[in-house]
Amino acid sequence: MLTEQQQEQRVVLITGAARRVGAGIARCLHARGLRVVLHYRGSRAAAEQLAGELNALRPTSAALVQADLLDAAALPGLAAEAAAAFGRLDGLVNNASSFFPTEVGQIDEAAWHDLMGSNLKAPLFLSQALAPELGRRGGAIVGIADIHVERPMKRHVVYNLAKAGHAQLIRSLAIELAPAVRVNGVAPGVNLWPDGEASFDAAERAAIEATIPLARTGVPEDIARAVAFLLLDATYVTGQILAVDGGRSVVL
Ligand SMILES: NC(=O)c1ccc[n+]([C@@H]2O[C@H](COP(=O)([O-])OP(=O)(O)OC[C@H]3O[C@@H](n4cnc5c(N)ncnc54)[C@H](OP(=O)(O)O)[C@@H]3O)[C@@H](O)[C@H]2O)c1
Repeated sequence: MLTEQQQEQRVVLITGAARRVGAGIARCLHARGLRVVLHYRGSRAAAEQLAGELNALRPTSAALVQADLLDAAALPGLAAEAAAAFGRLDGLVNNASSFFPTEVGQIDEAAWHDLMGSNLKAPLFLSQALAPELGRRGGAIVGIADIHVERPMKRHVVYNLAKAGHAQLIRSLAIELAPAVRVNGVAPGVNLWPDGEASFDAAERAAIEATIPLARTGVPEDIARAVAFLLLDATYVTGQILAVDGGRSVVL
């Protein structure tokens, strides 16, 4: 049984929340007093550890949901499960994403399905499934885009397309769901390098880092604070995408 105070606490679903940037967003929003529903696909141990950490700080403040977001038929069920975890849902952060290079000449349907599915299709169908509940709560959606929406990243055609679609999804939903639900985005630059060197080798990383005006790569907290601003504080902002990139998009 939830206490009266717990019933009043807002609830946010964060996709891909077990690790890296998603975990940073979850910690930040939890620190702002929200209860968090942590979605994961394969990173079960990390998700359980994070939920344990957050529940130790505040009992009954973090719950877990598992799903492969490429399974579109499962998304309404995921939305219902997330909304039921604490009996309400006030926010959605579309953070989960796959990321890998797709060289022209070798692009196949599997890469298209994976990159478009996680970065574009799932955010659309999950947002659609949660729109009624978010509307009831005067809620908000934040999507994680990419600064390369404006200037494409070499060797990443399908990822660039998927994130460009995600950016347009943010602006489209801002119109469709207004005035009940605000929809905004954060466009990271380089925050955490991807695991492995498939996308950038050490020399490419060094060359990119040398161009960042603020002279460092980002950390998950940089993205998380922008998400918290758009989700909780920016009550007269919708349809906007904020670059959080140490100034890199200015010099790209
Ligand atoms: N890192 C950066 O520098 C950077 C730069 C630009 C944009 N971004 C964007 O910022 C966000 C977070 O970045 P990140 O580097 O932390 O992301 P990430 O580690 O590459 O991926 C985050 C999570 O997405 C989940 N995921 C991937 N495919 C999925 C699927 N089909 N179904 C369900 N979950 C799936 C994975 O969950 P499991 O581990 O549980 O399987 C993964 O942990 C992403 O939207 C990314 O595109 C990041």
